[in-house]
Amino acid sequence: MEGPVLVFGGAYSNLQALEAVLKLAKDELHIPVDRIIHTGDVVAYCAQPRETTECLRSSGVHCLMGNCEESIAQAKSDCGCGFPEDSACNAYSINWYDHVTKQLLGRSDLATWMNELPRRMEFTMGGRRLTVVHGSPRNISEFIWPSTSVSELQACFAELPENMDGIVNGHSGLPYARLVPCGSRQKVWLNAGVIGLPANDGTSRGWYALLTPKGHGGLEISTRSFEYDVQAAADAIYATPQLVRGYADSLLSGVWPSHDILPLEEQMNTGVALQENTLFWPGQENCSNGVKNGTDKKTVPNGRHIRSAEDSRLRGQATAALAAVSVGVAAALLVRVWMTRRS
Ligand SMILES: [Fe+2]
Repeated sequence: MEGPVLVFGGAYSNLQALEAVLKLAKDELHIPVDRIIHTGDVVAYCAQPRETTECLRSSGVHCLMGNCEESIAQAKSDCGCGFPEDSACNAYSINWYDHVTKQLLGRSDLATWMNELPRRMEFTMGGRRLTVVHGSPRNISEFIWPSTSVSELQACFAELPENMDGIVNGHSGLPYARLVPCGSRQKVWLNAGVIGLPANDGTSRGWYALLTPKGHGGLEISTRSFEYDVQAAADAIYATPQLVRGYADSLLSGVWPSHDILPLEEQMNTGVALQENTLFWPGQENCSNGVKNGTDKKTVPNGRHIRSAEDSRLRGQATAALAAVSVGVAAALLVRVWMTRRS
């Protein structure tokens, strides 16, 4: 592809978010649908699976099969999300999966469409070869997080042809881009983020990624956010009595209803507002931004490691207040001991 490519995933039955990102692509970014990719999971947590699927199918964008499409198309008993059986996420998924299957009853055309979606896509840009998968090249339901180790990412690349330069995925719901050392080269791992749920960062925004060719074989990879009528998406859930309210509350609060599938690092970042970021992926012959000594360049994983000035100021104030309280308590204890000894 020659021009910018927009990638997003996880429409998650959120019709309002899907319509908004398609409008953004058309009216503001001027990106045609044949340069837009959906990384899978058109249906899930929100209220309008049938309308969302119809909208995405008719949009003309390139669609990948996610685990949700796979489960619906194959009439599985659950979403195949890979949640632990005793997790809250699993309990929630039983609820929304039941809603999705009922909403799609009698729509074999939609199930057939899901079943025919590719499990992998490839495209080239600026001389780079990229593959698009839902979870990972190993498993459609594998969660690859911003904190996933370099060795795990390298193992995923080892599943692909040696000349594959980058992997684009979805599924985990958090946007980030990482340069990964693979031998003498640096490859890219990009999770484009999702639009149908917030990024657990305390804001209601949806996320997508933009890949733009730059000179000399370089690529610019941006993770970007957008806002939409999240109240309408939440109200649609509230108006559906058979759906639990957790995901509606999550749309409004920006925090996921359950964190039990998240690694510790991602749990600790709950409620920390993500920043939009841009990663420059230099041409292989120009590795000035490259990786040395076998360590990955986690330049712009997702902005969570880049605290804003206001965030730093508030953290500083909280630390100072905690220190002051500690000194006060210690002083009071010393006075009490001294008075006890005097009496
Ligand atoms: Fe998924």
